[in-house]
Amino acid sequence: MNNPIGVFDSGIGGLSVLRALQKALPRERFVYLADNAHAPYGEKTEAFVRERTETIATHLLAQHHIKALVVACNTATAAAIHALRAQHPQLPLVGVEPALKPALALSRTGHIGVIATRGTVGSDKFARLLASVQGEAHFVVQACNGLALAIEQSTLPDQSQAAQAQIAHLLQTYTQAMGRFGSGPGDIDTLVLGCTHYVFVENDLRQRLGPDVQLLSTGEAVARQTQRLLAAAGLLNTKESHGCALPMRLMTTGDLSGLQAAAMRWLGLPPEVCEAVPAALQA
Ligand code: DGL
Repeated sequence: MNNPIGVFDSGIGGLSVLRALQKALPRERFVYLADNAHAPYGEKTEAFVRERTETIATHLLAQHHIKALVVACNTATAAAIHALRAQHPQLPLVGVEPALKPALALSRTGHIGVIATRGTVGSDKFARLLASVQGEAHFVVQACNGLALAIEQSTLPDQSQAAQAQIAHLLQTYTQAMGRFGSGPGDIDTLVLGCTHYVFVENDLRQRLGPDVQLLSTGEAVARQTQRLLAAAGLLNTKESHGCALPMRLMTTGDLSGLQAAAMRWLGLPPEVCEAVPAALQA
């Protein structure tokens, strides 16, 4: 089936998931929606994020006839995935959550760090996830206010330099607050990136924390789960070609040049694949 897969995030963070999806599912078409006008979600109320998520899902279904939806945002998944499942019981739906369970298998010191938005770490869904692994390792959880926004701003040419400095400052502040990183007894040796935006500062984190610390993100796991759900529903595209339809369309409720710059930088996509969404969705 050649209908596209919908992917959405508050902004450009979900491009890290889109990259994994495209790699795992090269025959599929994708429609990506970045709600940049309302980013960051992590510092908004749960009700607001749920409402945006429902509006966007409805838009992608009605206007783009998506056959599946990937909520490529931890914050939106925590706030809205239950409501979405109830509203669209037939739709294959994949969310993302911080990879706490996979981290258990990787950590040798038993000290695991988790960085995510305030919305994610404050959610009931995250509390349940943490409770399910508590006792099996020592978890240090840090909400990173401002980090997703700085990563968004780092793609805008006129704000890029200031945003890079802000990213460095925030990473320094938050990692320092979490304790010691390394491979010795008591050191945090595994860091879970619980926000899809943070994948884009992986190199900065690696430099800061050293080679002994493993960084864990969820893009590949989400891509595998999407593949499984589509296969189970008989919805995978089996044809080699996409026909005359574009394999990739990226849309934003906000600044088009920011999305274009990010798409080029992280996925090597030309500016023409990016467009603005209809005004009704921007408000
Ligand atoms: N990328 C999102 C996440 O995974 C949210 C970032 C934000 O908008 O605060 O949580």
